[in-house]
Amino acid sequence: MSFDLVFFGGTGDLTWRKLMPALFQAFRHGKLPPGGRILAVARDERSDEQYRALIRERFAEVEPSKRPSDEEFARFAEMLHYRRMDLSQPEHYAGLKQWIDARDADTAVLYLATSPYLFPVICEQLGAAGLNGPKVRVVLEKPLGHDLDSARQINRVVRSAFHETQAFRIDHYLGKPAVQNLMALRFGNTLFEPLWRRECIANIQITLAEALGVGTRGDYYDKTGALRDMVQNHALQLLTMIAMEPPSTNDADAIRDEKLKVLRSLKPFTPDSVARDVVRGQYRAGSADGKPVVGYLEEVKVPPGSHCETFVALRTEVQNWRWAGVPFYLRTGKRLAARDSQIVVNFREVPHPIFPGTRRANKLVIKLQPEDGLELHLLAVKGGGTNERLTPVSLDLDFDKAFPTERVGAYERLLLDAIAGRLNLFVRSDEQEQAWTWVMPILDAWAADPAGPRPYAAGTWGPAAASALVARDGCAWDEEE
Ligand code: BG6
Repeated sequence: MSFDLVFFGGTGDLTWRKLMPALFQAFRHGKLPPGGRILAVARDERSDEQYRALIRERFAEVEPSKRPSDEEFARFAEMLHYRRMDLSQPEHYAGLKQWIDARDADTAVLYLATSPYLFPVICEQLGAAGLNGPKVRVVLEKPLGHDLDSARQINRVVRSAFHETQAFRIDHYLGKPAVQNLMALRFGNTLFEPLWRRECIANIQITLAEALGVGTRGDYYDKTGALRDMVQNHALQLLTMIAMEPPSTNDADAIRDEKLKVLRSLKPFTPDSVARDVVRGQYRAGSADGKPVVGYLEEVKVPPGSHCETFVALRTEVQNWRWAGVPFYLRTGKRLAARDSQIVVNFREVPHPIFPGTRRANKLVIKLQPEDGLELHLLAVKGGGTNERLTPVSLDLDFDKAFPTERVGAYERLLLDAIAGRLNLFVRSDEQEQAWTWVMPILDAWAADPAGPRPYAAGTWGPAAASALVARDGCAWDEEE
């Protein structure tokens, strides 16, 4: 299948840090359909050769096992092209159309890796230039809006030029192998489905923890914060994957319909429940990897006295028959104790203990990062005679070991899906708007609360209030058990 893949924002951070390395991996794995052209579009004048040299240079920053050899890069670079465009100029879009039409590939994927402020103008111009025919797909990178109104506005503009089935809204967490395996675990196996409900599950915890701080992204981050950056999209998407009903097919809309129902069933927040069930934090100086690090307010380009949250923990419920009363705890933050992202499904305790020793219940841990895998924690008998006691043990599945040669990174997977036209792992506009609808009361309550976020030391698991949030229900975060 021949394709043209066009990156608007072709010299931007996302393109060289994530997209080009992902494409190169797809190329190296022989997964990129032959006969493809990759076109980077940006403001400056450059030749194809100059652009290739720029990308070659940038590969030096990619982890060693993912860097191309000279010979590999030379072959990959044959696909790379560059085009100068002023995104406000209709004739530049006409030129792009000619470039695409001249070859008439099976599909043209237009990836908007620019600032979202440019999405409306780019979509309007693409529509006006006729670059929105049935073979065209448009890929939109987050952030898609900074609140419900702005998200709706972006969606309106996208819809004015493209059909929903042409719009590929990226949430790169959906491309992570652990998320694919969560679907397989739930809907490719019979084992857990009978247990996947309120009668057997005590609570579910989703943690997306980063050890890094905001680094040089202070400018962007301060306008965003952890709620918009991680909860509205990544954490909620994971929650929908955990809580959704089995879809009737593996088609994009069957899956997205079920995810939407979960988002609609989330318990709405009120000012009181925000105060009670949501904790926001901001890191202060502390340590990372044993070295001292500065606090958020000392990071570059962070305005003095900023109330931007770098940590969120919250408690919610999915109000339907399957999940009524089961707490779902979400937690994410920067400069936490470790880079560790996982979903923990805590099963209920046995109703009547007959063994001495621990009453620790079973849990299933779906690990996303740093490695992806599954751990099923059980209790087994250790010792004999009077020493016999229940002891926790776990069954571990390490996907890197199980499938050593077939791991596909999130962006690699999503780029290949966009080229192939598979929408399963992309977010539909109604899902995205519903997620915004749910977070808006939190944003509003925070805006009206002069107290600001609670401080926590870099290198810890966030403010003490996050532990108190779960302790209130008699629970603890996984690392505190
Ligand atoms: C991005 C956020 O969407 O996800 C970043 O904007 C965050 O702030 C990143 O660091 C985390 O992604 P990953 O795949 O490294 O967990």
